[in-house]
Amino acid sequence: MQIDILTLFPKMFEGFLTESIIKRALNEKLVTINIIDFRKYSPFKHHQVDDTPYGGGAGMVLMCEPVVLAIEDLKGPDSLVILTCPQGKVYNEKTALDLKKYKHLIIICGHYEGYDERIRQFVDLEISIGDYVLTGGEIPAMAITDSIVRLIDGVITKESYEKDSFSNDLLDYPTYTKPSNFRGLEVPSVLLSGDHQKIAEYRLNEQIKRTKERRPDLMEDQNENKKD
Ligand SMILES: C[S@@+](CC[C@H](N)C(=O)[O-])C[C@H]1O[C@@H](n2cnc3c(N)ncnc32)[C@H](O)[C@@H]1O
Repeated sequence: MQIDILTLFPKMFEGFLTESIIKRALNEKLVTINIIDFRKYSPFKHHQVDDTPYGGGAGMVLMCEPVVLAIEDLKGPDSLVILTCPQGKVYNEKTALDLKKYKHLIIICGHYEGYDERIRQFVDLEISIGDYVLTGGEIPAMAITDSIVRLIDGVITKESYEKDSFSNDLLDYPTYTKPSNFRGLEVPSVLLSGDHQKIAEYRLNEQIKRTKERRPDLMEDQNENKKD
């Protein structure tokens, strides 16, 4: 898979690409991530990328030309173009699993007040990472990229993400490590029993209990999906 991220602030991605699991996935060539400063596509003097809004108002607006010229240069028959946008579809694990199937993603990071409305005509999907507003699309682009890369075969084991929260409409089960007693707080005895079937049952029950307590909406979604 190849992920191209269009941004005006490439340096924001330095730590993201050079640490931990993303770094390893890049080194092992399981994914290619290109950080592209779309200022270079600006046909204007001094590589201008934004201007004041028609009709007045606060902030600067990203212009169509640099973004659309970049999309037209990078897009191929297997590409999906994503715009980060607080007004888009709210991102979740199901969308991450869908996006994992694409060979090529182009993710556009907005900035400032936003972008010229006509840019929407050139994108396939608008994604919000939640109901709050960030200063730019870089953190959303990292969140989307990270959530997809960890699902790519070979990046982490399938077992690691299959039981993760949201992958089957349940939250993950609680985990413990040494010591078995920390200041009087004991690890549940079943986890020390060595009985794999009992451990599996305990974990599934904990997943269901947790989801009912913390995110009953996920179980309602599951029931809706079954009805469908
Ligand atoms: C300051 S925001 C613009 C907000 C816009 N005026 C609005 O209210 O819808 C600048 C850019 O940050 C990104 N952004 C901010 N919050 C986001 C969110 N929750 N999800 C995805 N992208 C976001 C988008 O790329 C957006 O164009």
